Amino acid sequence: MTTATQNLENDHIHILKLIDVMEAMVKLPDAEIAHLEEVVSLIRKFADGLHHAKEENLLFPLMAEKGFSLQQGPVAVMLTDHEEGRKFVRGMDEHIQLYKSGQLSALNLVYANMAGYNDLLRNHISKENNILFRMADNAFTSEDQKSLLTLFSILDSGSGNEPSGNVYVQQIETLANQYLQSN
Ligand SMILES: [Fe+2]
Ligand SMILES: [Fe+2]
Repeated sequence: MTTATQNLENDHIHILKLIDVMEAMVKLPDAEIAHLEEVVSLIRKFADGLHHAKEENLLFPLMAEKGFSLQQGPVAVMLTDHEEGRKFVRGMDEHIQLYKSGQLSALNLVYANMAGYNDLLRNHISKENNILFRMADNAFTSEDQKSLLTLFSILDSGSGNEPSGNVYVQQIETLANQYLQSN
C-alpha cells in the first residue's frame, strides 16, 4: 500500500513534468500568453495549493510532533524554499501582466523567474525525496503513515470549489504533450 511520503513523491513526478514544460517554454523566442498563465495557475493550485499545503499543514506538523524543529534544520529549509518559490511565481505573474499589456521586454523577466523557480524546485524536490521524506519514514509509525495518507487522499479528491488533483495532472499532461513532443 502507498505510504503518505510516496503520495508526495508521486506529486513530485507531476511537478517535475511541469518544470520540464517551463524549461521548454523559456527556450522559445515568444510565448503563448494563455500557456504562461496556465503554468502560473498550475503552480499555484497544484504545486503550492495542493502539494505544499499537504507538506506545510500536515507532514511538517507531524514531523514537529516527532521532534523535528520548524525553526531550524531540514524542515525549516523546506519552508524557506516554499517561500522563495512563491516569490518567483509572483515575479512570473507580474511580468506576464506587463507582457500582456504590450511591454514585450517583460518576457525576459517572466523567463528569468521561471528559470529561477525551476532550479529551486528541482533542488527542493531532490532534497525532499532523498533526505527529508526518508527522515519522516524513519520517524513515522505505519499508523502515522496511514492516517496522513487518508488526509492527503481527502485533499487529492478535491472539495467545493476545488477540483480533484487529477484535473491538474491532466492539464500538465496536455501541456507536456504540446511542449515536450520530441521526448
Ligand atoms: Fe516541499
Ligand atoms: Fe514536495
